[in-house]
Amino acid sequence: MAGAPGSQHGLPAPNFDEGAVPAYSLPDPLRFEDGSAVADARDWTERRRPELLELFRRHVYGRAPDARGRTGWRTVELDRRALGGAATRKLVEVEIRGVRPGAARLAFRVHVLVPNERPGPAPSFLLLNNRGPERADPTRDTKGGFWPAEALVARGYAAAAFCVGDVAPDERDSFGSGVHALFDDRRGPEHWGTLAAWAFGASRVLDAFEADADLDAARVALVGHSRGGKAALWCGAEDDRVALVAANESGCGGAALGRRRFGETVAHVNALFPHWFCGAFAAFGGREDVLPVDQHELVALLAPRAVYVASAQDDLWADPKGEFLSLVHAEPVYALFGRGGLGSHAAPTVGAPRHGDAMGYHVRAGGHDLTRYDWERFLDFADVHLRAR
Ligand code: GCU
Repeated sequence: MAGAPGSQHGLPAPNFDEGAVPAYSLPDPLRFEDGSAVADARDWTERRRPELLELFRRHVYGRAPDARGRTGWRTVELDRRALGGAATRKLVEVEIRGVRPGAARLAFRVHVLVPNERPGPAPSFLLLNNRGPERADPTRDTKGGFWPAEALVARGYAAAAFCVGDVAPDERDSFGSGVHALFDDRRGPEHWGTLAAWAFGASRVLDAFEADADLDAARVALVGHSRGGKAALWCGAEDDRVALVAANESGCGGAALGRRRFGETVAHVNALFPHWFCGAFAAFGGREDVLPVDQHELVALLAPRAVYVASAQDDLWADPKGEFLSLVHAEPVYALFGRGGLGSHAAPTVGAPRHGDAMGYHVRAGGHDLTRYDWERFLDFADVHLRAR
């Protein structure tokens, strides 16, 4: 199948047959590692959630450094008449100050289009752009479904985007460069991988948004596609300022359940992109059942905040069913907070979005991409969770 490169690496061919999904049993997010049960929302928040977050740091994404007091920002361009007068365009430079001598700072750019007509500070969508900069072109010379900024602004949201590669390059041997170089001089098994670095970058954008009177930092939705979706979910887990996460076709290491071993598996993703994760994750290729976490627990770490998972029918590499099931199995954690999930567990129908209480899901026709259709659904969902607040 196109987009299924696993076999090139001497790995077992990926499975695309639902009938061949192995029997598996998922770890229970509402049980502590010692086997005792989580009693209530407080128990979850104060004890189980930190335990689970730590398991994901140690085994999957790695541990990011403490960033307190390490972010600076300045607006380097301002155009109050962008999008034909509908928006103010800002180019914000976000600076991260490191701790290592000789690697003192890293600056990256965030583009923001803020609606000029707004009742107060605007809610926003921040895209973790894992494609080329032209996919989120603030001049709008290049327009496309990957970042339909006009549509966001027309519906009252600021449209913001940064290129994840400006924070940490998407390369195997990149640990000594980008934001990693500011903090670490070597890579150990629990060191933060590239996805954690991108998530860290998104959090630093939130630091800047908190200081921007035009934006409401309490109403920020993160959007990421594919590897960007994996990083957006992890950012939402690490940073509870994030109000909503929309993970588009985030697949293995994102919303898809690892234990299903459908499409891309832990072995494939580690062979292809080992730098995305902490070193310890590689040991779980083909051993998903002994990994102390699965991806429904990543979704659960967002509770009770709003979460949206999106799949594409032909994107079997990302396991649409496994992405959907992560939401289903995160629901018990949302229920602790009195929040409903999807509303129904029936198999989703292509082109029929399911927007429940705190969770939204759709599977659209077509293949692997972030499209206008996906954004329109995220906007509908955000209207309930962000706009009306
Ligand atoms: C590859 C990778 C996926 C990833 C995707 C993307 O297909 O195996 O895990 O999500 O690239 O980022 O587009």
